[in-house]
Amino acid sequence: MRFFIDTANMAEIREAMEMGILDGVTTNPSLMAKEGIKNVEEHYIAICKAIGSGDVSAEVIATDYAGMIQEGRALAHLHPHITVKVPMIKEGIKAIRTFTEEGIRTNCTLIFSPAQALLAAKAGATYVSPFLGRLDDVGHNGMQLIGSIRQIFNVYGIKTQILAASIRHTLHLIQCAEMGADVATMPFKVIEGLFKHPLTDKGLEQFLADYQKNNSL
Ligand code: G3P
Repeated sequence: MRFFIDTANMAEIREAMEMGILDGVTTNPSLMAKEGIKNVEEHYIAICKAIGSGDVSAEVIATDYAGMIQEGRALAHLHPHITVKVPMIKEGIKAIRTFTEEGIRTNCTLIFSPAQALLAAKAGATYVSPFLGRLDDVGHNGMQLIGSIRQIFNVYGIKTQILAASIRHTLHLIQCAEMGADVATMPFKVIEGLFKHPLTDKGLEQFLADYQKNNSL
């Protein structure tokens, strides 16, 4: 399972990189706005350079076919690691088909149903991004969506990768791994949370105390 970080914050990206477990980055216009990034193109290039290898999702703002094509081509041209993120709308699916034919990698975002994931896959999307947490927020089971997409993709041998998004906590990540999501994109605080277990802290504290006792005699 590959781990992406879901942020536009350079310090978080660098820290996650230093952990040695990061495979890529996803961003969206809300995450860019949170960091106050105005020159997004420059920021995407900085992210690509910081992570060295691995995909960096860069989202189009246009919602019409021609606009998405123009923006997506420009984004893909910025750096070889850019994956063009396209919303799950009719025009978006048409744009994904064109990008696929042009060899531009895509991430179809805002997926909330298996039918949407199947449409994106048929258009040739490299990734589909089902948003788990947002489904849970409205009383639907986000994890069932991951399971259903996995099942459909397995039945037909579909190569589109499932990029589980809107992951809010450790249990989401574990369940995504159990369901066979190819990639999980997580905020920095969720990545940090994966390390934590009180018994690890307690055990280490005890080992160090015993070492000190044994070596101070
Ligand atoms: O990658 C999608 C993600 O940014 C959405 O997460 O927590 O805003 O639902 P969230």
